[in-house]
Amino acid sequence: MSSTSGTLPPTFDRADGHAVFPETDHDETARLNFLTGLNVHIGKELSPGVRTAYEQRVHPAFEKSQGNSPETATDIRKAMLHDPYYQQWAALRRSTQEASQQVSREVALRRVDDLNAQAATLNEGRNTLSLDPDLKIPSYQAAVDNHLMPGSYYTEAAPDDVTAAATYEVSLFPIGGASFGAKGDGGGRAMANFVRDRFPDLNPKRIVDMGGGIGGNTLPLAAAFPDAEIIVVDTAAPMLRYGHARAQSMGYGNVSFVQGLAETVDLEPGSIDLIVSVMFWHETSTKTVGEGLAHMHSLLAPGGVMVHLEQPNFDADTPTFERFMRDWDAYYNNEPFWPKLHTLDMFKAMEDAGFKKDDLFDAGTEADIEPGRFQPWSTIVTRHRHETKDLGDTGRELSALGGYKGERWWLFGAVR
Ligand SMILES: C[S@@+](CC[C@H](N)C(=O)[O-])C[C@H]1O[C@@H](n2cnc3c(N)ncnc32)[C@H](O)[C@@H]1O
Repeated sequence: MSSTSGTLPPTFDRADGHAVFPETDHDETARLNFLTGLNVHIGKELSPGVRTAYEQRVHPAFEKSQGNSPETATDIRKAMLHDPYYQQWAALRRSTQEASQQVSREVALRRVDDLNAQAATLNEGRNTLSLDPDLKIPSYQAAVDNHLMPGSYYTEAAPDDVTAAATYEVSLFPIGGASFGAKGDGGGRAMANFVRDRFPDLNPKRIVDMGGGIGGNTLPLAAAFPDAEIIVVDTAAPMLRYGHARAQSMGYGNVSFVQGLAETVDLEPGSIDLIVSVMFWHETSTKTVGEGLAHMHSLLAPGGVMVHLEQPNFDADTPTFERFMRDWDAYYNNEPFWPKLHTLDMFKAMEDAGFKKDDLFDAGTEADIEPGRFQPWSTIVTRHRHETKDLGDTGRELSALGGYKGERWWLFGAVR
């Protein structure tokens, strides 16, 4: 049992609302609370049992029949598929994720007319929302509904629809085990802290958040640099309409939302001082990583900084069992690019994109939870913490340049 056993995560009614956030009724709130708690329970209490099943049952049986230990994550997966504990854990985890997404979608769709009208009112007459109806959704994005979100980010249930984005924001709460904070911006706050701490002299005039979605993790940067022009780039119109309305209702006039691809978006070369992304690359493709980094290199001004927040990649020391656990989402949570990204050498990819080896960096971070809103421990009461960290393994460095120490998220980037 973990040290936070019995600790319940924050409840959904304590999430911060805004003008386009769906107001849930009693039953919907109860469902979301149940799923948030169940998700945390799976992560904290049931997930360690998968390791026990492997070490005490599956690994010895494999060795006995094969004469050697499993060599790859695929070997472990194939062997674990027959284990009853793994089967139950995986089925429960999949069902919890599916239910969290379905409930969130239902919450949004029930209010489709009100949400769309509210967003339209907030967006009307502004020149800070720029949509491109001709933009073709990339095939890697259209191929699956990432993390089982029905209709993904871009599907429109009605003209000028925002419900995909409302679904996304509501679902972040249960699927993250409430660990992203009351505004869901724990990653963005961590990013803003990192930029200020690591680059104290950087005073960015133009900032771009690639794959910024609803801008939830962009707004902490907008708050940190109130004089900067901030641009959220995303492929999905519902995310941008909703994000723009959300930012307007929260008083952020310095954030524009632009529909485009991170790898081609039409911005003036050399004009951007800071490019960030938060949990973006894992839903793209190998080709997009190469083209996207090269485009970012061309957009950055001399001395400009690029920082990406992602799931940590594997390194030579990542145990095979941990690889197996962390690639689970590819098979059961519609995250097909995850295993490939985990093994990509992002330092080489940044060099290939034009950045100089000496200008690359990395670091690790936890979610930064707004003080006084959620309990400080809420960041550790999460399924993901256990997936991304091999418990008991401290102080491992990801690379020779490394600043990563096994935290929840990996920050990597470069100075131009
Ligand atoms: C996991 S979401 C993260 C959104 C946001 N950064 C956040 O932290 O909430 C990934 C986002 O990337 C967008 N996306 C995927 N491929 C893209 C691309 N090539 N260019 C721009 N956006 C893209 C998706 O539409 C989605 O909104």
